Amino acid sequence: MASTLVLLAHPHLEHSRVHRGLLQALRAPGPADIEVRDLYALYPDYLIDVPAEQAALADARLVVWQHPMHWYGMPALMKLWVDEVLSFGWAYGPGGTHLRDKDLWLVTSTGGSVHAYSEAGYNRHPFDDFMPPYRQTAELCGMRFLPPKVLHSAQRATEAELQAFSAAYVKKLATYPDWTLHLSPTEEHTIPVASSDRPAAE
Ligand SMILES: Cc1cc2nc3c(=O)[nH]c(=O)nc-3n(C[C@H](O)[C@H](O)[C@H](O)COP(=O)(O)O)c2cc1C
Repeated sequence: MASTLVLLAHPHLEHSRVHRGLLQALRAPGPADIEVRDLYALYPDYLIDVPAEQAALADARLVVWQHPMHWYGMPALMKLWVDEVLSFGWAYGPGGTHLRDKDLWLVTSTGGSVHAYSEAGYNRHPFDDFMPPYRQTAELCGMRFLPPKVLHSAQRATEAELQAFSAAYVKKLATYPDWTLHLSPTEEHTIPVASSDRPAAE
């Protein structure tokens, strides 16, 4: 059990520039207590072992979601992981306190440039406008959503830029939680015990 859990979700890591490099950096020997779970390698059939994923989360203080942006959100297997692992009565709702007070950090990359992620750009919104589903998912589970780390213009990034991004990422993991201490704690969200907002458990 590690105090930092990195969940990597990239459907084609063999073609990746950014996330393959980040994975190599994470796997280099170092002092930090980090567990990396490569979801597409673990679950090529999309059959997620929910108890194993929940057990991996148990002792983690920092949970990292590391993935490229795909259609303004997370790749499909990461979304399935959220649907299945963050279950009612475990992650949120009555008795759903297992993730409370943990930190969630999104580390991601985009094909679009900073300008593309602006009102004048072709994505018509700043990057942060795509974050509410992430932030609210974290907060519903009592987690603090840390400011995301984003590499824009991933296709055009030079080797030096990729290396710098990777080095900064590893340094932040090594120095966690120092850079989070000034951030506000999560607000409490109360989920009604008898709720008709979602279907009954199967
Ligand atoms: C299916 C798919 C959807 C994508 N959607 C987006 C998107 O919504 N916004 C964006 O900026 N880039 C998008 N991209 C570009 C990827 O984010 C980019 O190629 C990736 O971050 C580069 O990281 P990598 O080298 O690890 O693959 C998409 C790429 C693919 C394959």
